[in-house]
Amino acid sequence: MDDIEMDTTAFPLLSSRMKNLETPATIAMSMRARALISQGKKVISLALGEPDFKTPSFVIDAAYQAAKDGNTKYPPIDGIHSLKKAIQRKFEYENAIRYELDEIMVANGVKQILFNALTATLDAEDEVVLPAPYWTSYPIMVKFLGGNPVYVMCEEQNNFAMLAKDLRAKISNKTKWVVLNSPNNPTGAVWSKQTLLAIAEVLREFPHIWIFCDEIYEHFVFDNQCHYSLAALAPDLKSRILTANGASKTYAMPGWRVGYAGACPSLIKAMMKIQSNSTSGACSVSQAALEAALTKGDEAVLEMKQAYNRRRQKVQAVLSVLPGFTCVAPQGAFYLYPGIKGCIGKTSKGGCLIGTDDQFAQALLEEMYVAVVPGSAFGFSPYLRLSYAADEHILEEACDRIARFVLQLS
Ligand SMILES: Cc1ncc(COP(=O)(O)O)c(C=O)c1O
Repeated sequence: MDDIEMDTTAFPLLSSRMKNLETPATIAMSMRARALISQGKKVISLALGEPDFKTPSFVIDAAYQAAKDGNTKYPPIDGIHSLKKAIQRKFEYENAIRYELDEIMVANGVKQILFNALTATLDAEDEVVLPAPYWTSYPIMVKFLGGNPVYVMCEEQNNFAMLAKDLRAKISNKTKWVVLNSPNNPTGAVWSKQTLLAIAEVLREFPHIWIFCDEIYEHFVFDNQCHYSLAALAPDLKSRILTANGASKTYAMPGWRVGYAGACPSLIKAMMKIQSNSTSGACSVSQAALEAALTKGDEAVLEMKQAYNRRRQKVQAVLSVLPGFTCVAPQGAFYLYPGIKGCIGKTSKGGCLIGTDDQFAQALLEEMYVAVVPGSAFGFSPYLRLSYAADEHILEEACDRIARFVLQLS
């Protein structure tokens, strides 16, 4: 069931807390696309941030074997020991961060890691500083938990990186967390070492702040760029940093619902307490799958990365020359975030006035059957987010339809 919009007539039966819980706009756009598909329209959806690849078969085999071996009991709250050891090795060799086992926990994805961490730490009116454009779940969760999101605008002319001076301007004595996300959803930006070092310099001034580093796209970095973990660049801040990662993107495993974090033992313990009362921990079979992926997944990741890179170049080449578009080459993740300022105020062939990126996305869907997410969903307009985690032929067709739509604007 995808439709999670609430029946407002049932509202009195729901908690007042639910009034603060929004549906991510990315899901709303996919739902619109599905409605058109069910009417027989040939919709191409570039709206969801989901790898199109299948989970590597050796990962599936490891899960099957785990189930056959009887690994089907309740798992330890913080994760299966051998998986935690594999995560420890991963952090050490790939990220140059040494986490002890009591500094590591496994959960049902980075989403649950974030939810655990915020639930464990946020009091009413606490502020969480987020990069904007942002992954939709960050502000939604913050508001649901009674906190206030505060946005640092990451401008296109700075390649959508967060500038240290802009971060400093948004920190107050109410700030509880600063969230960093590189490679970034929705922009595909990869923040440089200099950018992160400058951010670390600011964070040193504010010892009351936790730092959430969402590194879920770390393996998809292009053009000889590197991914840097803040906890490695600024080891003096490590005890305040939560480094989050997961299997969904790296190993094409979003449905397995498994992710993990490294953080100081007191935060991990608090998060475990929450997890023990909500999900009891991540699915045991998925944990076996993640362990196999972390241990033997390098080749599969490289293949996916090469495919993403080819697609990125193709789509960017088309979008960057469209009239009214700006499209910096993103260096990571699997998204493009073109600006469409030059299309605002125009009218589509179907007679729709394009006053906002919402209207652009709506008209593109209705007239060309291509689903993309408007920048408004990520707090940064007028832009569009396109996911290129789709087959190359599908992407070619999508680009062709987008180009026709734009060229027909008047
Ligand atoms: C930046 C970012 N963090 C976290 C997630 C969710 O990850 P998971 O599937 O591990 O819950 C996503 C998914 O789109 C994401 O884009």
